Amino acid sequence: MSRSRFLTLISLGAYGLVCVILYNRYIRQDTTPPTTMQGITPESGQSSAIVVGSGLAGLSAASQLVSHGIPVRLLERAAKPGGNSMKASSGINGAPTKHQLVADDAFYQDTIRSAGKAMDVKTTQRENLITTLVKNSSSAIEWLESKGVDLSKVAQLGGHSTPRTHRGAGQTPPGASIMTTLLKSLKESPLFHLQTSCTVTKVLHTDNLVTGVQYTCDNGEQNELHGPVIFASGGFAGDAEGLLAKYRPDLAGYPSTNEPRPGTQPLLTELGAQLIDMDQVQIHPTGFIDPANPTSPVKFLAAEVLRGAGGVLLRDGKRFFNELDTRERVTDAIRSAPESKIPHQWDIQLVLDEGTYNSTKSHVDFYLWKGLMKQTTIADLAPKALESIQQYAEFAAGKHDDAFNRKSFAHWTLTDPKPESVVYVGSVTPVIHFTMGGVLINEKSEVLKEDGEKIEGLWAAGEVSGGVHGANRLGGSSLLECVVFGRIAGDQCAEFIRQAGEGK
Ligand code: FAD
Ligand code: SIN
Repeated sequence: MSRSRFLTLISLGAYGLVCVILYNRYIRQDTTPPTTMQGITPESGQSSAIVVGSGLAGLSAASQLVSHGIPVRLLERAAKPGGNSMKASSGINGAPTKHQLVADDAFYQDTIRSAGKAMDVKTTQRENLITTLVKNSSSAIEWLESKGVDLSKVAQLGGHSTPRTHRGAGQTPPGASIMTTLLKSLKESPLFHLQTSCTVTKVLHTDNLVTGVQYTCDNGEQNELHGPVIFASGGFAGDAEGLLAKYRPDLAGYPSTNEPRPGTQPLLTELGAQLIDMDQVQIHPTGFIDPANPTSPVKFLAAEVLRGAGGVLLRDGKRFFNELDTRERVTDAIRSAPESKIPHQWDIQLVLDEGTYNSTKSHVDFYLWKGLMKQTTIADLAPKALESIQQYAEFAAGKHDDAFNRKSFAHWTLTDPKPESVVYVGSVTPVIHFTMGGVLINEKSEVLKEDGEKIEGLWAAGEVSGGVHGANRLGGSSLLECVVFGRIAGDQCAEFIRQAGEGK
């Protein structure tokens, strides 16, 4: 065997090992038994706060509570903490930051534009929520960085007029990097107590005051906890039989990036919480069609950052839309053509050149290893692809304005595409990804009833809440909403406990 072939085999072996470690650590479903209950005897003598859900909204709220010296009981339904937040692949928005110096109100304007027709559904909360989200985006990034999360790389995602989505420069995807850092820091505190494999089944209340929760664990334990409650239990994009069937029956049979699991909003409507935008469901344009299992109802996401970094979408070898328009519009453009042979799937090629590959190497290497993308040449694509990629290369080089009005080509460097030019390709299709609707909150993360009154002792943050994204969420704004409204919920709940203590 030649020396170079030997070295290639060694490096592929080493890369495979890293992939296996990352896959087991961040993606694979956990099968470990439930965490045992240790009980909590806070040295401060403070009452505990209850947090439901261990995604980014829950961990942000818990971190804030702990920083105020409040003991936290966090209940998590899954065997492993992290929720969808652990899977986040493109990053978190913030502007301005030390990595993103644009200090105008473009982020606010982009969010309003993206929220689209939902802005016509008047609620006094929507604009407050958007203002709160955007205004706190710089401090959200600073806060995560102060915890030790690397967010030094910035990309432009669809619907954004400028790059503002932060991720780290290393191998670890942004969701896993943020979540493992916050979890590690929380686990170092004696005030933090996490119980996994335990599902909250009921919210306890007296009139308009929430007093605790009932929960059932996979090991048969049934119990109650008493105290104010922060709901951070995520969305319902995996609830095909329940909330999706109720609010969007037309989406039956679509694949999803979310594992099947019921939504939790009904636990809060039982208390009178108001729902908003429940029919606003985000269909992400690019879920991978796995060649080994093309009909799988759960799909790996082809991260939007691949398009943001320069990637192009082809249908039968031809470009058909601005790849960096909002998700809603890119998805509509894909769905305007007939479905492929598999119902509710379309056959679109996502194509990257070497420059785009190099700037998203950690993502693409993982997808190559999973068999979701392949390295090939343009000659291997549909007959029209060479001409389409040649035109795209000219737009990217600034020779003409893009025919589809795309403004950013980021890391695309292939200037003279030829049949033998190397490209990285995967088949993608639209996938149910995120639910914009949920319980209505205000800018203090308080949960509101139909009459606009708040429910005392209850807050909500993250995907379980609704209103802030309207008809289309911008990529990177969900992690942001989790940090912003999770931290606000933590602060508000801490103040509630402090005041209750004073009133004793
Ligand atoms: P989750 O992270 O989903 O956590 C909710 C938790 O609550 C879950 O662990 C769940 O098990 C638990 N739970 C639910 N009900 C109960 C109950 N009754 N009792 C106890 N526990 C309960 N957004 C971005 O901004 N940037 C990205 O790059 C990005 N990439 C994504 C990639 C993928 C593949 C997916 C699926 C989503 C992505 N998103 C991204 C969206 C974003 O990750 C989620 O919307 C966000 O993480 C939601 O956070 P959360 O804390 O509200 O909920
Ligand atoms: C993605 O990586 O495309 C998902 C980003 C998001 O949902 O915000």
